[in-house]
Amino acid sequence: MRLAVTGRHGQVVRSLLERAPADVEIVTLARPEVDLQEPRAVAEAMVAARPDAVVNAAAYTAVDLAETESELAHRINGEGAGAVAAAAARLGIPVVHLSTDYVFDGSLSRAYREDDVPSPLGVYGASKLAGERAVAGANPDHAILRTAWVYSPFGKNFVRTMLTLAQSREEVSVVCDQLGAPTCALDIADGVIAVARNLLARPEEAALRGVFHMTSSGETNWAGFAEAIFACSAAAGGPSARVKPIPTADYPTPARRPANSRLDTTRLAERHGVRLPAWQDSLAPCVARLLAAARAAP
Ligand SMILES: NC(=O)c1ccc[n+]([C@@H]2O[C@H](COP(=O)([O-])OP(=O)(O)OC[C@H]3O[C@@H](n4cnc5c(N)ncnc54)[C@H](OP(=O)(O)O)[C@@H]3O)[C@@H](O)[C@H]2O)c1
Repeated sequence: MRLAVTGRHGQVVRSLLERAPADVEIVTLARPEVDLQEPRAVAEAMVAARPDAVVNAAAYTAVDLAETESELAHRINGEGAGAVAAAAARLGIPVVHLSTDYVFDGSLSRAYREDDVPSPLGVYGASKLAGERAVAGANPDHAILRTAWVYSPFGKNFVRTMLTLAQSREEVSVVCDQLGAPTCALDIADGVIAVARNLLARPEEAALRGVFHMTSSGETNWAGFAEAIFACSAAAGGPSARVKPIPTADYPTPARRPANSRLDTTRLAERHGVRLPAWQDSLAPCVARLLAAARAAP
């Protein structure tokens, strides 16, 4: 299977490059040649790549900055995603598109299901919702995978931030009233590859198409996540800090975040046979890699 993937340095892209088994070839379509703001470049690169399926893993992901860069966020996450899906449709191939828990406002008291009504709190969520609609409108052969709280050994993420803070601080304040499931991008990569295989193997099966929730199983809050990170780090001889749980009200950010980011992943398990590990299971190996990388850095 040959997968064209948008982006090059993103957490999910790098995880796909690392996790692709021998029979999966990943071709990256990335800047500067392929910018999601340039639909024509996207289409031409897709034709040249001759993929069996495309994964749209590129996105404008700066949640707070998006509040002041609304147009750019919509161009990349909305129209750009639509351009990827439209190019895939012209080639007659499926598109796997990554989306987010931030399409919801987090006011429900249970985990969100795919059919719950989205109501984004901020520009980033709104732009990703526009992307979902653009993808679905441009190519019926799609799987939209909403994930959440993504971390990995690559790029900027919460795990790396906590480990860096622990080098210089004894105590770190972390919000404790937002619920979700930390999800390792390496697990997302495995899930994306499994979903792409299913789409290609069963082209007529409508149940494999549509929106799916794909996060780790289990749940925690950011303070609980931070505690788990420091426990893994301490066990591996790395830095750790005390966690001071604080309410979101004490940590104001330009963009509001949903209090409840839990996603119900039943549909993905039942239809695609894909279940990501419990959130704690993938954390220790990632922390170990980040510590090793920090030690190796000059
Ligand atoms: N991070 C999270 O917590 C989270 C949570 C829920 C959902 N998601 C979704 O999961 C997906 C993957 O996220 P991630 O964490 O892997 O993102 P990331 O690490 O922030 O990487 C973003 C990727 O998008 C690419 N990109 C940005 N603007 C672009 C443009 N104009 N043209 C082409 N490529 C562009 C970047 O390109 P370069 O390679 O050139 O840098 C990079 O590869 C996204 O759809 C995101 O919305 C993420």
